[in-house]
Amino acid sequence: MALDAKKFLPSSLPPSGQVRIALIGDVVGKPGMNIVCNAIRWMKQHLKANLVIINAENAADGTGLRQKEYKRLIDAGAGAITLGDHIYRKREIIETLNRESNIVKPANFPDSAAGKTHCIVHTDLGHPVAVISVLGRVFMRPVDCPFHASLREVEKIPDAIKLRVVDFHAEATSDKQTLGRLLDGRVTAVLGTHTHVTTADEQIFPGGTAFQCDVGMTGPYESILGREVLPVTQATMTFEPITFDVAQKDVRLAATWFDADPTTGKCSQIGRIQWPLELIQQWNSEEADFRNRLPL
Ligand SMILES: [Fe+2]
Ligand SMILES: [Fe+2]
Repeated sequence: MALDAKKFLPSSLPPSGQVRIALIGDVVGKPGMNIVCNAIRWMKQHLKANLVIINAENAADGTGLRQKEYKRLIDAGAGAITLGDHIYRKREIIETLNRESNIVKPANFPDSAAGKTHCIVHTDLGHPVAVISVLGRVFMRPVDCPFHASLREVEKIPDAIKLRVVDFHAEATSDKQTLGRLLDGRVTAVLGTHTHVTTADEQIFPGGTAFQCDVGMTGPYESILGREVLPVTQATMTFEPITFDVAQKDVRLAATWFDADPTTGKCSQIGRIQWPLELIQQWNSEEADFRNRLPL
């Protein structure tokens, strides 16, 4: 039976003069890449997203990102790419990080680490958007303070660029709320990634900053954070080294969108979507049917 697409879409359009920006949470392996590369155009058409930012730290077979996945995401319509603790797992991404202007490293990494600490991209309406990534320190390798680094990075953004998105790639919800409050009124959105679990706390803070602890995972949900269940439970119980393959079933896309005024950078609405693969396939086949019915 066909899915009711309306149930998967926000009830309101972006208010007049505002832009809608979406962040897709951690894309995991081939199942994540497959859904995201098929879904971006529907995010533009049905969700009315003017810019799609993607956290792609798990895109290359579950860990890291390669040039080929980077190119597929950009070719599919992604406007900017953020990463996280797995940023350098595939060494070839270093060249891409140094060369390309729409992909960032965490701003609290050392200066000598490959990549840019922020990037400026544009919505399809031409509005500039600053994108910043920062890494938490709980369950992560030690990095500079994400709070001081975020403030320093925000200071570097030209005043004229009001739309500013921060991807806080971190474990601790307390740290995420703290950064959101610290940056409230200074940036348009502070959205969390890394845990692969969507939180139901999307909100707009008093200063106009959109916030959510974690956007969640784009990949297979019949899994443990995107990996096959059995190897993870076995390794946990036996301490044996077992490969954690990327799972395959129940593939979904998780993203959070927000509407903001490009002249002030203030957010007016925030919401989240979780699209099953079947919904994307349905839209693809409806479009194919429509094309087939067109007169030659
Ligand atoms: Fe991560
Ligand atoms: Fe991740």
